[in-house]
Amino acid sequence: MTANSVNALASASAELDGPRRQDAPGDLLAKPHPSKPHLRYFHEYEAMYKRSVAQPSQFWSALARELLSWDRDFQTTQYGTLESGTVSWFLGGELNVSYNCVDRHAIKTPDKTAIIYESDDGTINRSITYHELLREVSRLAYVLKDMGVRKGDTVAIYLPMIPEAVIALLACARIGAVHSVVFAGFSSESLRDRLLDANSKVVITADEGKRGGKTIGIKNTVDQALGSGQSTSVTGVLVYKRTGTEVPWVPGRDRWWHQEAEKWPSYIAPERMASEDPLFLLYTSGSTGKPKGIVHTVGGYLVGAAATGKYVFDLHPEDRLFCGGDVGWITGHTYVVYSPLCLGVTTVVFEGTPVFPDPSRYWEIIDKHAITHFYVAPTALRLLKRAGDDHIKYPMRNLRVLGSVGEPIAPEIWKWYHDIVGRGNCHVVDTYWQTETGSHVIAPLAGIISPKPGAATLPFFGIEPVLLDSQTGELVQGNNVEGVLAFKQPWPSMARTIWGDHKRYLDTYLNVYKGYYFTGDGARRDHEGFYWIGGRVDDVINVSGHRLSTAEIESALAEHSAVAEVAVVGISDDLTGQAVNAFVSTKGQEEQIDALTRELVLQVRRTIGPFAAPQKIFVIPDLPKTRSGKIMRRILRKIVSGEQDQLGDITTLLDPSVVGKIIDVVNKPL
Ligand code: WTA
Repeated sequence: MTANSVNALASASAELDGPRRQDAPGDLLAKPHPSKPHLRYFHEYEAMYKRSVAQPSQFWSALARELLSWDRDFQTTQYGTLESGTVSWFLGGELNVSYNCVDRHAIKTPDKTAIIYESDDGTINRSITYHELLREVSRLAYVLKDMGVRKGDTVAIYLPMIPEAVIALLACARIGAVHSVVFAGFSSESLRDRLLDANSKVVITADEGKRGGKTIGIKNTVDQALGSGQSTSVTGVLVYKRTGTEVPWVPGRDRWWHQEAEKWPSYIAPERMASEDPLFLLYTSGSTGKPKGIVHTVGGYLVGAAATGKYVFDLHPEDRLFCGGDVGWITGHTYVVYSPLCLGVTTVVFEGTPVFPDPSRYWEIIDKHAITHFYVAPTALRLLKRAGDDHIKYPMRNLRVLGSVGEPIAPEIWKWYHDIVGRGNCHVVDTYWQTETGSHVIAPLAGIISPKPGAATLPFFGIEPVLLDSQTGELVQGNNVEGVLAFKQPWPSMARTIWGDHKRYLDTYLNVYKGYYFTGDGARRDHEGFYWIGGRVDDVINVSGHRLSTAEIESALAEHSAVAEVAVVGISDDLTGQAVNAFVSTKGQEEQIDALTRELVLQVRRTIGPFAAPQKIFVIPDLPKTRSGKIMRRILRKIVSGEQDQLGDITTLLDPSVVGKIIDVVNKPL
């Protein structure tokens, strides 16, 4: 944890800590609950939590049987340990995720809306019932089979936020193919890396995407990914017609979704999957340059998705959840697709941005579709708060739960969310979790755990958080303490491995502090045992809720021929949470600085994607290095944050005079 974040935490909590652990009735709000909340009192959470950690097998076996439909019951609820590095759940059990998310609701409530689609400009009005979803998922499942996809194969999904993205995930799950969604903001190079690593057989994409009034040539990116560099194992590309523009076509490889789907009947039986079969892999950034394919399994992941939807969000079948996350990230996987659909809830697929055509877009959607649950990253809230409260002109009467995800939410944003968006009438839940955890791990249960603005509060069932001394790995006991955050017990939706690199999985998560799952985040436990997340302690940074690795950006920049050395740091930013700042030393003497920085920005856009582009690039004579050659990023961070008087001891640097030169570059008026 950086000193900054610790200070911010300390001052935020000193102001806001209060006696909070009293019983809070679930219907504390002025707004009556439309049905019966799943829990009513804090002591119910406490009792369930105690059971969940004392007798995890009993606890989770009951919940897994209650929440999911199993084709074959499981015999062993949990096997393996964090220590041994092999964790499995619900062994012997068989189930199909698409059956759980589609068929069982299509049978009971065929006409109920499963998906509400809000197109980018709001002109396409389309919703999909559970009955229709079953038909579309089945047809696509046939198409994938016809394209040669078999159980266990990986299928890449590179789609904008349209209902077909949800259909594609579920069709893979139906036939036992492992989906690997690549966020459509990634460049062709990043896409190719992921296709290669996952050995994907088919790519599902669209002709073009629409976002914020702009058109994005998605198929074009896929063509580039497949057409240049190392050849992939992709044999087929399925293209959804979103805009109808003419796109280049590779005969024999490319097929139109609509033409293929209409060939097939509207029902295909779901494949029986073993609980521990992989459901998907999803690439995320870590401390090294190479992204890792996080693997989630069928049974445990779905139990986590359903259980957190039920208890953290207090979801009921009549609810309508609008999660603003993209299906290219874990938030979209779990809370646009699997959690709501598994619980038979209506989910919103929103193609656009919060500010197009104007900053009232979210509020308009919430109002128009009688949304009960809204879930978004603080970065969007910061932007919308700044846009002004006049935009929040819609009554949004049905809203009950407001969720926050992906980065710390500052207390003033939390209060604005609660008071202005929620009109003091909704539960705000700040949910802490990760791609690797699959579903929420520390979060207030809506209406049950009284929130503290800025705190993720208390652990979800089955999660035993501990704080460790980062150096010694010793447990930090008691309250009012801080340390690195780790978990002591396995939980059903935890990632099982990194695709094709189990050793890296062990080394990243389970061997750092033996016997614990290491989150990579620092945290503080306040005087009541509530958790406040402080931010990453590794080289991962969080820009607008996107998880990026500084090492990955550094290696993109280092590819430029003029670059000698590079260091990337995350700097706190009012709007985006953190911003990418890069420091570059060049090989030549007389570079055209402006032209070079432009090229370097382009280089990152091309190699990773536009969302990773540095906000600032400083071309400096040399980087601050120790005598052993280690780059002192801490010094760079302090200089750009205006803390030049707090650099600490710089005499250990190989050349302490570089510091003054860097300060000059940073402070030079642009
Ligand atoms: C951060 C996103 C503070 C954290 C679901 C974590 C948060 C990383 C919160 C995972 C929160 C997520 N408060 N920080 N409520 N939620 N984070 O994998 O640093 O994209 O390790 O998953 O986001 O990012 P990822």
